Amino acid sequence: MFKLEAYNKLLVSASVAAVVAFSVVGCMEGTATPSGAATSVTLDIDGGVSYPVVNNKTSAYYVNPQATGAKINNGRVPNAAELARWDTDLQPVTALSPEGHGIPEGSGSVEDGETLYEAQCVMCHGDFGSGGGGYPALSKGNAYDLQKTLTNNRWKDPEADGPTRVFGSYWPQVTTMWWYIKDGMPHPFSSSLSIDETYALTAYILNINEMEIDGVEVDDEYVLDRAKFLKIKMPNVDGFEPNIAGANALPGVKAYFGKAQNFGGLNLNQGAVRCMTDCQETSVKIKRIQNGGIKDFLPPMNVTRDLPAKEVVALDVKKTYTENCAMCHSAFLSPGSADWAGYTPKGIDKVYANGINGTEGGMPAKGGTDLSDADFKTMVDYLISGKVK
Ligand code: HEC
Ligand code: HEC
Repeated sequence: MFKLEAYNKLLVSASVAAVVAFSVVGCMEGTATPSGAATSVTLDIDGGVSYPVVNNKTSAYYVNPQATGAKINNGRVPNAAELARWDTDLQPVTALSPEGHGIPEGSGSVEDGETLYEAQCVMCHGDFGSGGGGYPALSKGNAYDLQKTLTNNRWKDPEADGPTRVFGSYWPQVTTMWWYIKDGMPHPFSSSLSIDETYALTAYILNINEMEIDGVEVDDEYVLDRAKFLKIKMPNVDGFEPNIAGANALPGVKAYFGKAQNFGGLNLNQGAVRCMTDCQETSVKIKRIQNGGIKDFLPPMNVTRDLPAKEVVALDVKKTYTENCAMCHSAFLSPGSADWAGYTPKGIDKVYANGINGTEGGMPAKGGTDLSDADFKTMVDYLISGKVK
């Protein structure tokens, strides 16, 4: 999470370009540039800094501050207003930040959240947050019941259900989700939601996770605001270490991270003389599995590839478009749009193939659907022509 201290050293590269321009003069005089060398005024922009191009080479190569004695200005410590612009995350109410951090005033209802969800989220996250098609579930039912599945252990009982980790059952703090939605969702148009819309969506997601705030059920009429938000206690708040909640949080967290074995480091015999060769103790007995190894091995995951038989339904072109393509294609490459002229010259087969396989430019394979190739091609024909055949 964002920590102010970490950014105190952040350097704002402001007047760098000006300094470079100055030092280039120095270096062009000082280096062994062949006489009559062509000095172009073209600027090469690299990381926001402009370098003049000399003899087709970016002059960054010529700007050697040690050779030229030039002083490079590496910027300055950002001021409070600049830092505030970066400091957009939310932090929960804990001993480390007793007031929370970055949690804005605002409110939103479950009802509005549901409307927003149906319009902007359901195509990926499924009805009532059920997930599917590779997109994460936002709920699997009652968060308090599901939190109890987190200790299910298939090593001990291979027949047991695995743990169910979704927002309600697993995440220790609600602030993480609020910010995730505000900053990152909906996926194709991140950071487009207002504060109130984010509260509404949070309320809806608490609702479908069947959660309570301060003993009150987040039902269909619930209106969430900042004050209630601060009271949310996630079922799994104590499921993580180190504990960031108590009065000793800060020293506790520091001590925790001071010991590698707390987070997976080997339990080394600390303080012992280090060993670099022949370190294995000769007395260690290696135990091999007898009698030809494990026989009743149960693979941890289902590896069969045959999917359940799918009901064949006739393709509803307009509905499929609205549900699966419109969130990206309504603004650009919309049905019948002139933009398609930039795509079709390479031939329809290549356009089909790009759509089916996805492109680096942002088209997900088959638009994230599981349409058959034939149905997907019908969709492409519709997008290009704007007409349903
Ligand atoms: C185009 C598909 C798409 C849309 C639309 C979309 N999401 Fe997501 N969402 C994703 C993907 C993909 C992830 C997982 C990202 C990752 O793990 O890096 C995700 C993750 C999330 C998560 C975190 C879930 C977890 O347990 O990790 C939340 C919460 C979320 N989305 C909320 C929303 C909300 C609210 C909306 C509507 C405003 C929305 N999403 C719209 C694709 C989408
Ligand atoms: C998450 C956003 C998103 C979704 C959902 C999406 N597209 Fe696209 N699609 C894009 C983008 C972005 C491009 C431009 C890609 C590029 O220029 O490389 C594109 C390009 C295409 C192309 C042209 C490919 C090419 O390079 O010739 C086709 C065809 C296409 N989409 C069909 C569809 C269909 C059909 C659907 C719905 C079933 C769909 N898309 C859903 C974002 C999306």
